[in-house]
Amino acid sequence: MKNEKILVVGGAGYIGSHMVKDLLDSGYAVITLDDLSTGHRELVTGGEFIEGGLGDRVLLERLFSTHKISAVMHFAAFSLVGESVEEPLKYYRNNMAATAELLDSMIRHNVTRFIFSSTAAVYGEPVEIPITENHPRNPTNPYGKSKIAVERMLKDCDFAYGLKYISLRYFNASGADESGKIGERHSNETHLIPLVLEVATGQRENIKIFGTSYPTPDGTCIRDYIHVSDLTKAHLLALNALLSGGDSEAYNLGNNRGYSVREVIELARKVTGKPIPAIEADKRPGDPAVLIAGSDKIKKALGWKPDYEDLETIIKTAWVWHQKEATYT
Ligand code: UFG
Repeated sequence: MKNEKILVVGGAGYIGSHMVKDLLDSGYAVITLDDLSTGHRELVTGGEFIEGGLGDRVLLERLFSTHKISAVMHFAAFSLVGESVEEPLKYYRNNMAATAELLDSMIRHNVTRFIFSSTAAVYGEPVEIPITENHPRNPTNPYGKSKIAVERMLKDCDFAYGLKYISLRYFNASGADESGKIGERHSNETHLIPLVLEVATGQRENIKIFGTSYPTPDGTCIRDYIHVSDLTKAHLLALNALLSGGDSEAYNLGNNRGYSVREVIELARKVTGKPIPAIEADKRPGDPAVLIAGSDKIKKALGWKPDYEDLETIIKTAWVWHQKEATYT
């Protein structure tokens, strides 16, 4: 595998930058393509970096003509549910249409292995918990719809061109690399764990709990948090499967365990030793009460085993990163 060159699209983002690091640590050659619209150049820890978009035909043509790429990993998506409802075309243009351009260039250059960052949002409102891969896919927002559209596109490309792909449906990505050198950095942060930790560092005054009357034991939403390095570990296994001639598949990635918003805040208080004031607020539109992954399929098929099943440990890794981030500007 040492000589395989992997193109990581969106490698300057949160999950992509962890992927680049883990690919390099595993001995792969890496090219990162990122337009830096939401990514950060300094989070790309090595390999070659190309600034540009995945929908740029000319750039892709040059890239695939001059490099022998063994596989493409695609992390370059907009991923905010609320924003996708307000600006759907931004999502369909980038997440769907630009991905079609990328796939088209790949096929023309006979690059036929693809790992796709999909999401729990493809399932929509759960009809059963835990959510397995066979759960109906009825996304309720343009973000989830753009992702399921790509999953369907991939299936058609397999049939027509022999593209082999693995779609990884992430639940709530969280935590940071153990090195403390990379982590989650969003200019407009909306995710629970980073926001809670920004309260702990004093960057925010309090955390709002969006909804306290959900049909859950403490009234707040329950989510399945998965460490970013367990996500990248699954990508390495998926890559290995495809490079060894494996077939197309879709897998969930979560810990089969849910934590409520209140539990997350409580654990963050324990980890940080800070009071973290919380205030009860209205529900955020579109939030399902409970999202918990059934991830047995990837465990059985690829031997995936998470290293960070415990949320306290996940928050500890994020806390190391966020304390550093508090001094970054
Ligand atoms: N929450 C708060 N206060 C905040 C922020 C979040 O109470 O300030 C709550 C949310 O209402 C939700 C939970 O914390 O119940 C987690 O919210 P996040 O925004 O951290 O994550 P989501 O579950 O909304 O989103 C994640 C991914 C999306 C993906 C979605 C699938 O980030 O990309 O799961 O439903 F689409």
